[in-house]
Amino acid sequence: MPGPAGGEATIRVLRYDPDAGGAPRWQTYRVPYEPMDRVLDALHAIKWRADGTLAFRRSCGHGICGSDAMVINGQNALACKVLIKDLSQPITVEPIRGLPVHKDLVVDMEPFFDAYRKVLPFLVNDDPAPDRERLQSPADRARYDDTTKCILCAACTTSCPVFWGDGQYAGPAAIVNAHRFVFDSRDRASNERLAVLSDKVGAFRCRTVFNCTRACPRDIHVTRAIQEVKSEILKRRV
Ligand code: SF4
Ligand code: F3S
Ligand code: FES
Repeated sequence: MPGPAGGEATIRVLRYDPDAGGAPRWQTYRVPYEPMDRVLDALHAIKWRADGTLAFRRSCGHGICGSDAMVINGQNALACKVLIKDLSQPITVEPIRGLPVHKDLVVDMEPFFDAYRKVLPFLVNDDPAPDRERLQSPADRARYDDTTKCILCAACTTSCPVFWGDGQYAGPAAIVNAHRFVFDSRDRASNERLAVLSDKVGAFRCRTVFNCTRACPRDIHVTRAIQEVKSEILKRRV
């Protein structure tokens, strides 16, 4: 049941400081909130007025930068997009799963970006440059439109039980970003990307669990993109 539209929220945050030792522990805060306040507003209220030691990432505050993915009431979400009034209380806030915790809600994103970098997430085309831009039909542009929306928040990858398993799986975000270029008619490095994703840590580790699609704050059809990449690997016999 969602809480009242405004008033005081009870927020339980999973705190952890590896440098200080000890185990992760829950800390409870009471935070006044307005009807349109989001979980990010509550975290700011805690940090600025109650407990400056709380650590979390955020930048844009409006669902664009992807820096404040966290587990809110058990679901991966961006703290800046979730209204407090829509949540049942007490509201639990935890770091995204499967990545080492630096402190509180701040995780080490390097393993996530390592997998991202491996799929060459940029346009590759060494053909002689035309006089003007490399043209593309509207239909060709539409082929990969969905996967251009990714903001690299990691909500998908860190909701995937295969990724939690051994941390070796490249993860849905890397595959989504490979998809964005594999199906771009101007690109010339698709086979290299597909080769990266055809090995034992690649797309075929996906077990079609769909957590990634449910977690994506940009409503990208993540599982469908993964299936399309798998099909392309088989079609091209990479
Ligand atoms: Fe975030 Fe969606 Fe991109 Fe995954 S696919 S990193 S959930 S925006
Ligand atoms: Fe994981 Fe999504 Fe596949 S949750 S198993 S990457 S469908
Ligand atoms: Fe940028 Fe939430 S703070 S997406």
